[in-house]
Amino acid sequence: MTCRELTDAPIAAFNVITLEHAEGIVAGAEQAGLPVILQLSENAIRFHEGPDAIAAAMVAVGASAGISVVLHLDHVTDVELAMRTVDLGFTSVMYDGSTLDFVGNVRTTRQVAEWGVGNGVWVEAELGEVGGKDGAHAPGVRTDPAEAARFVADTGVDSLAVAVGSSHAMTSRTAELDLELIERIHAAVPVPLVLHGSSGVPDEAIAAATRAGMWKINIGTALNVAFTGELRDWLTANQGVDPRKALKPAREALAEAVAHYLRVVDGQAA
Ligand code: G3H
Ligand code: ZN
Repeated sequence: MTCRELTDAPIAAFNVITLEHAEGIVAGAEQAGLPVILQLSENAIRFHEGPDAIAAAMVAVGASAGISVVLHLDHVTDVELAMRTVDLGFTSVMYDGSTLDFVGNVRTTRQVAEWGVGNGVWVEAELGEVGGKDGAHAPGVRTDPAEAARFVADTGVDSLAVAVGSSHAMTSRTAELDLELIERIHAAVPVPLVLHGSSGVPDEAIAAATRAGMWKINIGTALNVAFTGELRDWLTANQGVDPRKALKPAREALAEAVAHYLRVVDGQAA
């Protein structure tokens, strides 16, 4: 399954850190009966000291799922890693040149996008804050619609992550999205739009963002809040040493969060 077959409706993408994340995400998607994107970030790859084992686990979990699954490499800054997408068994990659200046970001993103065309890989990219260090998803950063349109035309990317009020790693859901800006970028840019840092965005705002033209909704931290919260509760209340006893409720809590988010993104609940 590739992103190209899933552009008709908004879709949620969830970050995988451990095998239990991958299993829980697929279980949640099966509960909701909706397709899902499993994404593996360069940071998570660093944690595993290489992509091969965790990517192989994701391929296996995806292959036995009862719903459609897309496997995506996320926030890749290393072009060589981006070009491993196919041999890892994935069909989609986000090349993240957001901390580069506009010209450098265009140059490298275009190189990855051209490789993507030749290899049947969907390429997502992101525009950085001019002069900024934290990319497009630091609080307060906003994407300019005309610049976004130029970036897409100059690079040939398949989808674009935009800065419209969310920021990464929020554990409170207090981000305020600029819906009017989403509409303006959606009108100016001919490719599907991606919202990063969606854990900080309330359900109603996620639903409104999809109605305004947002396509892919990236969620990571919120799953860790559910997963780690359940682990902590179990470990606080129990003295056992079998990790499965704690991991099982944690994985179930993660699956429940996934099912909920998928329904919100699908417009069923908010
Ligand atoms: O690329 C991943 C997402 O942007 C996740 O962000 O952990 O803040 O939900 P989040
Ligand atoms: Zn992100």
